[in-house]
Amino acid sequence: MPAASLEIENLSAGYGPTRVIEGVSFSVPAGSRLAVLGRNGVGKTSLLATLAGQTRRYHGEIRLGGRDIANEPSAARALAGLGYVPQTRDVFPTLTVEENLFVGLKHRPKDAISEAYDMFPRLKERRKNLGRQLSGGEQQMLSTARSILGRPAVLLLDEPLEGLAPVICEELMAAFSTLAGSGEMTILLVEQRIQSALDFADGVIILERGRIAWQGTPQALAADHGTVERLLGVGGLH
Ligand SMILES: Nc1ncnc2c1ncn2[C@@H]1O[C@H](COP(=O)(O)OP(=O)(O)OP(=O)(O)O)[C@@H](O)[C@H]1O
Ligand SMILES: [Mg+2]
Repeated sequence: MPAASLEIENLSAGYGPTRVIEGVSFSVPAGSRLAVLGRNGVGKTSLLATLAGQTRRYHGEIRLGGRDIANEPSAARALAGLGYVPQTRDVFPTLTVEENLFVGLKHRPKDAISEAYDMFPRLKERRKNLGRQLSGGEQQMLSTARSILGRPAVLLLDEPLEGLAPVICEELMAAFSTLAGSGEMTILLVEQRIQSALDFADGVIILERGRIAWQGTPQALAADHGTVERLLGVGGLH
């Protein structure tokens, strides 16, 4: 499945009666990379969860490759090509690493799991271990690798670098860039490591209290110290 576009229009969502996403609109062309930034609690995870069909949506459209998926359940969205690596890692605890990866393959041949082992040699070393026996960082690698193996047309990544060593972060960001650059995936990246996100992305949105407070290019944001300070709470990027 090649990369697909994602278009969001006037999306509002939340948990029960509590709205945490309010009137959000943006579009991500096929094969491009959007960084979703913002302080803690502004709604980044809720936005991705809403796209994946895991919160209550009040109104708004979500179009994947031009098709409105907003009324479809999460399993149907996954089949339509939407991959989601949640912030709480969704490793199957009683399956081995290898079995977890097989689940991610979907219709691809079994030997494709070597891609995951090339990306994360640590997973190969631990392939017979159960999901619940992995460290936090290893679960992180497994959850990410499993999603990539299914070759989703649009991949939603919620803080994929959390808990990983710097050298692995660099390799992972390079792998994401290759996948997006080859036209295989459109990627939405939520990340607290702002510089890594800006190096990767070709577009940025910043959320504040569930709304888009700023959008533009990584270059424009890096040059705008006032916005960085006000919306991200850091005194400049380096
Ligand atoms: N399951 C839930 N039920 C009710 N409220 C929730 C739930 N999950 C999140 N919220 C609330 O929604 C708001 C947005 O939370 P969210 O997790 O989307 O923020 P975030 O930007 O991802 O934060 P972080 O950077 O800490 O991961 C917060 O006020 C949070 O308390
Ligand atoms: Mg979050």
